[in-house]
Amino acid sequence: MSLNMPSPLNQTTLAKALGPHSFLKRIEVFETIDSTNSHAKRLLADRSRKPSLIIAEEQTQGRGRFGKTWQTEKGKNLMFSLLVSPKIPRQNFGLLPLLTSLGVVKTVESTTKINVITKWPNDLLINDKKICGILLETVSSHPGWVVIGIGLNVNQTEFPSDLHATSLALETGKQIDRTKLLSSIIHHLEWLYRSQSPDQFRSMLAEWKSRCTMLNKTIQLQSDDGVITGLATGIADDGGLHLLVEGEAKKLYAGDVTVVEAGGS
Ligand code: BTN
Repeated sequence: MSLNMPSPLNQTTLAKALGPHSFLKRIEVFETIDSTNSHAKRLLADRSRKPSLIIAEEQTQGRGRFGKTWQTEKGKNLMFSLLVSPKIPRQNFGLLPLLTSLGVVKTVESTTKINVITKWPNDLLINDKKICGILLETVSSHPGWVVIGIGLNVNQTEFPSDLHATSLALETGKQIDRTKLLSSIIHHLEWLYRSQSPDQFRSMLAEWKSRCTMLNKTIQLQSDDGVITGLATGIADDGGLHLLVEGEAKKLYAGDVTVVEAGGS
């Protein structure tokens, strides 16, 4: 499938699309950068740190979870980071990855009418292929601030087969307006700066769970501590994954999941 080159992202158009009341007080657009997450972390050191959006057409050192790289074609997708100090209680911080991915899900579903599957903690899949990856990072010297990096495959139409990736253009056959998509995602993430009741968090978590197909399946979880295999039994209210490993119930907060078997053994 071949599509025209999408129009470049532009600071003025983006600021206009987000509107004057956006919770984001700074927008930086780069044609090329090492990594929008790395840049957001550099901005944290500024005295005048404020909620920011950093977006790039190309990353030379785009980073994924667990030391992986994130490389996509220049000018076709969304690769951005939000530098934010979320107005959410500390005990709900573990929900950030899931709730962030829900913001992307809602945008993608309303734009394309295609169902999106959520994979704990924050991967998004369409037809079993990855459409979006999210990398959350914190810096210990700036507690309360978080960098939310989002890579969403939008208009790229060719991917190496070993990536098991897809894009919105491939799934819909159409080129998608990246500015509209981005402003919708930001709109769906406004809860970052609005007080939410515990009930609102619970109902967002329920929405996330309703799209999650890996529960009650045997999964392999790879983390910095190694690989464990177990039955994914549920998601806790604090965002942790309940896993049954050789009869022992565990709750985990990070890892890369692969579904190995439909149903428990
Ligand atoms: C993953 O699935 O492993 C997470 C991928 C996150 C990629 C995004 S692209 C924008 C931001 N900048 C980075 O260097 N990484 C994130």
